[in-house]
Amino acid sequence: MIGMRSSDNLTGHRLSVRRTVLEHLRHRGIIGVDDRRVTGGSPLALGVSGITADSGGVVAIDGDRCVPSHRTLSDVLGTGGYLADRMAVAARHEAGYDPVLYHAIRDFLPPREKASKRCVPAGTPEHAAAESRDHIFADLVVYQPGTLPGGEPFRSTGHWNLPGQLEIFQTLTGRVAMLVGGYTRDGRPFLYEQVCGPGDLMAVPFGIWHVTYVLDGPAVVFNLTTEVGDAGSVVAHPGEEKYHRASPIAVTACRDSGRHSYVGEGLDLWGRPLGAPRTDWLQSLLAPGESLADLHLYASPSRLAALQRLAWEAYGRCWPHHGGLLEPA
Ligand SMILES: [Fe+2]
Repeated sequence: MIGMRSSDNLTGHRLSVRRTVLEHLRHRGIIGVDDRRVTGGSPLALGVSGITADSGGVVAIDGDRCVPSHRTLSDVLGTGGYLADRMAVAARHEAGYDPVLYHAIRDFLPPREKASKRCVPAGTPEHAAAESRDHIFADLVVYQPGTLPGGEPFRSTGHWNLPGQLEIFQTLTGRVAMLVGGYTRDGRPFLYEQVCGPGDLMAVPFGIWHVTYVLDGPAVVFNLTTEVGDAGSVVAHPGEEKYHRASPIAVTACRDSGRHSYVGEGLDLWGRPLGAPRTDWLQSLLAPGESLADLHLYASPSRLAALQRLAWEAYGRCWPHHGGLLEPA
């Protein structure tokens, strides 16, 4: 009987979290605004039931289509992203070519208070006051399939994260390559790529530059971000400012007869990207079958504290060199 009561409590808690998530998305105008019902689609591991993505990458909740914001080629060109063949891209763009590269739903799940199990939905004073020092923020991005003139896979803009900003990604559908560059805590440069398919997790070191390429799309990627440690005035949930912090690393991916390779002037300085570092310290924080979104919504404050401590310790030991970067594939 005791077991039954605790499983009832668990179900009750999950239903209450689901209500909070729906209320949050409705208040933000993400759901409840598009009359076109979505049928079919595969369930997404986003911590609450009823969230699906169809073969075109349309995300829905109980068939209610989510309304994302769009990032187009114009945005990448406008923010100075380093492109494999900027002239070829710009020429097509001037002729009217401006595809959507990805759809983003920022703040997809309500921010999570790190010191308690509370999620704070939009429309509450707690949400308005939520800060990255005390909260974790959760975004969802759907990368569209495609290739730019010059051979580059459709991609994100690319940006530098802030010192003390911990960011963790989980690919839910499709396959992406993330290129990550920066400096270890003792100042050594590194550049590596991590290819992630459904279920794969990746955490990136602090203060890095990163850009995501879609290898097989649509690719749905969920991510968490928060401020860890004493990093001064860090905003771990920034707006447009993040695209203007410093020049991008001048290395980018190009499709190459069914595979991809890296090109760009930055290869002289940064070298050819190595394979991903070990992140088994991260994997150990999730139970089998548990998603990153589950961690956000349901993990105890002590598990979140362990996550932050392990990331900070790994960085102190020169993550990503600590544990070893793999040789390129
Ligand atoms: Fe980032």
